[in-house]
Amino acid sequence: MSELYVMDHPLIKHKLTFIRDKNTGSKSFRELVKEVAMLMGYEVTRNLELEEIDIETPVAKTKSQIISGKKLGIVPILRAGLGMVEGMLSLLPAAKVGHVGLYRDPDTLEPVEYYCKLPSDVEERDFIVTDPMLATGGSAIAAIDALKKRGARNIRLMCLIAAPEGVKSVQETHPDVDIYLAGLDEKLNDHAYIVPGLGDAGDRLFGTK
Ligand code: PRP
Ligand code: URA
Repeated sequence: MSELYVMDHPLIKHKLTFIRDKNTGSKSFRELVKEVAMLMGYEVTRNLELEEIDIETPVAKTKSQIISGKKLGIVPILRAGLGMVEGMLSLLPAAKVGHVGLYRDPDTLEPVEYYCKLPSDVEERDFIVTDPMLATGGSAIAAIDALKKRGARNIRLMCLIAAPEGVKSVQETHPDVDIYLAGLDEKLNDHAYIVPGLGDAGDRLFGTK
């Protein structure tokens, strides 16, 4: 079974409160999502391998560590996952960005794939899939399926808020994918929205409602 990490850093909890608040407008919402993604990136990258190199400080020669040549890929699930990319890239400027386009059919609630563009060396990269919301889990499962189908082997999923139903579903379908959350909520409502959640992440990011 995969690991589930729920962030407990006070800065993340604080910012998540304002992300949830319905009175937070799109500009602040975008900034906060970007900041929380960056803070979460600190945990998501905790197990990156290091290597030792020789350097010279102004005072002496020494050995010091750098991240070893592991190639990373960030894959936002369109649209709302885009809001988390900039924060991650500010920590990982050499990462490549792939995109998976999915929407939830409003009647069936099933995810429909409409776009997929990944770095050409998929097999060689470790991927971090980003999406603010993990509700039923259908979109995340479909995005991970899309990555695996094209050869990805090492994948992590990073979301702001999840419902227990979505976590369970992803863990059952993709037990090799660790999940990182800023908050784990109570449940889904009858429209498969996360309760208390934050509403529609895409609409709040891009002002489309
Ligand atoms: C939202 C959200 C997730 C998905 C979560 O996207 O950003 O991708 O719903 O729901 P699920 O876990 O039940 O699949 P939406 O389909 O609204 O598309 P959008 O990002 O284009 O707004
Ligand atoms: N998608 C969202 O944007 N919000 C939810 O609560 C569930 C799915």
